[in-house]
Amino acid sequence: NWTTGNIVEEQVERIREQVGDSRVICGLSGGVDSAVAAALVQRAVGDQLTCVFVDHGLLREGEAEQVERDFVAATGVNLYVANEQKRFLEALEGVEDPETKRKIIGREFIRAFEEAERAIIADAEAHGEKIRFLVQGTLYPDVVESGGGEGAANIKSHHNVGGLPEDLQFELVEPLRTLFKDEVRAVGAQLGLPAEIVGRQPFPGPGLGIRIVGSVNAERLELLRKADAIARAELTAAGLDNEVWQMPVVLLADVRSVGVQGDGRTYGHPIVLRPVSSEDAMTADWSRLPYELLARISNRITNEIDGVNRVVLDVTSKPPGTIEWE
Ligand code: XMP
Repeated sequence: NWTTGNIVEEQVERIREQVGDSRVICGLSGGVDSAVAAALVQRAVGDQLTCVFVDHGLLREGEAEQVERDFVAATGVNLYVANEQKRFLEALEGVEDPETKRKIIGREFIRAFEEAERAIIADAEAHGEKIRFLVQGTLYPDVVESGGGEGAANIKSHHNVGGLPEDLQFELVEPLRTLFKDEVRAVGAQLGLPAEIVGRQPFPGPGLGIRIVGSVNAERLELLRKADAIARAELTAAGLDNEVWQMPVVLLADVRSVGVQGDGRTYGHPIVLRPVSSEDAMTADWSRLPYELLARISNRITNEIDGVNRVVLDVTSKPPGTIEWE
C-alpha cells in the first residue's frame, strides 16, 4: 500500500540510481516543492547536492531565515546563498507596469541563479568533479498541465524557480513528478522539514514585487512586509489557515487617502486584504472571514504601521478578478 514512507524509500532509491556519484544542484525558493525535492535528494546522495538560494529581497517576513536556518538545520544540506536584494531593487527602480516587473524579476532571477551556478561548477571542477544534474520540483499536475492549454495560468507570465534554466546543460532530477501537492506536504513532514515550509500557502515567484501597486522600493517593501506579517499572524491565531487558500496582502503605493490619527490629519496608503478560497487557483471566491478577525487585522495594521491609514477588503471572485493584483 501507498504510504509516504514508501514514497520516500522509492524516490531515494531512484535518485541514487539516476545520479550515481555525480554532483547535483538545486534551487530553493522558500516554497514547499523545491524544499521537499531538495530534501529527498539530500536523503539520497547527501553531500553530492548543493542547494542555491537566491534571496531577491521580495520574500515575506521570516521566509529567508526559514530557508537559511531552519531548512539547513533540518536537512544538513550544503547551501549557497546569493544575497541579491540590492540587484533586484535597482532593476525594479521606478518600474510600475506589472508585466514589466514580472519580466525583470524573472530575468534577474535567472541571471543570479546562473552566476551562483557558475561559482558552484568552478568549485566542483577545482575538486576534479562535475555537476551533471539539476533538481526540479515539478509536480504531477504540472506535468499534466504543460501538455495542454493552461488558460488562466497563462494570463500573467509566471516565474518559478522550477522553470530554470532553459539551456539544458544538466540532466533533470524530478522526484515529485508522480505526486500531488498534499502528498508532497506529507513527504516533507515525513522528512522532518519545518512546518512553516511544509504548510506554506502558495506564494508567487515574483513575491512582494507584484503585491505593491506602483513601483517597488525598500521602504514600501518594509511596510508591506509588516502588514503581511500581521495579517498572517492573526489568521493563524484565529485557526483559519486551512479555510483560506491564500491571502495576498497588497500595498496600494500609488493611492493616498486622508485619515485622522491622534490629533492629526494623515495622508497615507491603503492596504488591501485578498483572502480567497479555491481548489486549484484557476477560479476562486473571496473568503468570508469573521468580522472580528478583520477588525483585529485592521486595527493592528493601522496602529502599528506608519504610513498606512486604511485597510480594505477585496470582495471579488476570480473571475473576474485574479487572485494577485498584478
Ligand atoms: P492569479 O493572480 O493569476 O494567480 O489568479 C493564480 C495563482 O498563481 C500564483 N501566481 C504565481 N505563482 N509564479 C508563481 O509561482 C508567478 O509568477 C505567479 N503569479 C501568480 C498566485 O499566487 C495564485 O496562487
